[in-house]
Amino acid sequence: MTSIEYKNNQLHIEKLNIQEITNSNQTPFYCYSASYIENQYDELHSAFDMDIKIFYAMKANSNLSIIKLLLNKGSGIDVVSGGEIQRSISAGAKGKDIIYSGIGKTDEELKYAIESKIHCINIESQSELIRINDLSKSLGVKQNIAIRINPDVDAKTHIKITTGKAENKFGIEFDYAKSMYNIASDLKNINISGISVHIGSQITSLKPFKKAYTIIYDMIEDLRNNGHKIDHVDLGGGLGVSYSAEENIPTFKEYANLIQSIFGNSNIKVYIEPGRLMVANSGLLITKVIDIKTTTQKTFIIVDAGMNDFIRPTLYGSYHEILPVKNNLGTSNKIYDIVGPICETGDYFAKNRKMNSVKIGSLIAIKSVGAYGSVQSSNYNSRPQIAEILVKDDKYEIIRDRVEVKDLIKQEKIATWL
Ligand code: LLP
Repeated sequence: MTSIEYKNNQLHIEKLNIQEITNSNQTPFYCYSASYIENQYDELHSAFDMDIKIFYAMKANSNLSIIKLLLNKGSGIDVVSGGEIQRSISAGAKGKDIIYSGIGKTDEELKYAIESKIHCINIESQSELIRINDLSKSLGVKQNIAIRINPDVDAKTHIKITTGKAENKFGIEFDYAKSMYNIASDLKNINISGISVHIGSQITSLKPFKKAYTIIYDMIEDLRNNGHKIDHVDLGGGLGVSYSAEENIPTFKEYANLIQSIFGNSNIKVYIEPGRLMVANSGLLITKVIDIKTTTQKTFIIVDAGMNDFIRPTLYGSYHEILPVKNNLGTSNKIYDIVGPICETGDYFAKNRKMNSVKIGSLIAIKSVGAYGSVQSSNYNSRPQIAEILVKDDKYEIIRDRVEVKDLIKQEKIATWL
């Protein structure tokens, strides 16, 4: 589904002319297409001929409206912290909708998760398992768990977002997993519900998924043969999205077929935890050109968004298409570096990029920022977080207010002895 396109040389998101949003909202800001996200959920869900449950990985975009929109579609939520549990409950999630993954869960977070009666906790270590048993005992309940397996599979993605190699901090080593299940089955306040795996993010081939899922399939057989009851398999997230027209990504149908071919006859509930693919291409970061500066080597377009607002290019060297909001100045072959105002050379959105229709004051749109955009923003250089806007048809609403500098300052104190 394309929800972002030009009409009469004006960039639109759904039926709304972006220029219209900028008339009454200060740049930079994020805006998302609600219909795109709804459509992604429907397309992914209907790609399966078997019953599956989607748990949206809210770390990709944790705005309350985005969570609520996906809950309304029937999605569950995959969380990674106490804060994310609190957020998802604030958006209307019930405990049964929530799965808690994530390494390094504190006792406070675990207690909150157990008290919130969440559906399942994915276990990352033996000591975590014991702590959950102790906490559940003191609360007089039995907690559902799954053990997260590290299958030692290379997801062939960016090194910073690969999670399923033996050298990564995530999951339980394959050889040790069976004894973890034996330990878990002896714990009175633990109920073994399933098994989980997540090998990384922005994965653009089905091969690593096939490898990892086959390992998990074999392990389920083995565990069941050893008397363990495995009701569900949580296959994690990770399917990539196209950040440019050239990128070739497996379709939802191909992904679903792979899962079905492995688990279709296993009499097991299948869960998936997609984050990026739900939201990445729903979102734009709208920013204004502050200045254009030519040196002997380069021409820089300096915009009012910075790496504090959107850090993916800086952090992962990731590619994001950039478009002028008003495409009315004809084509040009000029090459630019598109950079932010922050005092770091790493503060850029694109290098050596052809751009049309830009001059000082122009608005430009950075594409595919709906996932891991706003959630990874910071206040570096005392730049407060920017607004988020949700568009549906020809209407929009502000779903997060722009933070004011005075609110940042309010959180701090001058030490009494100063
Ligand atoms: N489940 C678990 C346990 C995860 O750790 C993640 C992502 C997901 C699901 C969702 O994966 P997805 O479907 O979104 O690929 N900040 C990075 C991505 C970090 C992903 C972390 N874990 C980026 O901007 O590329």
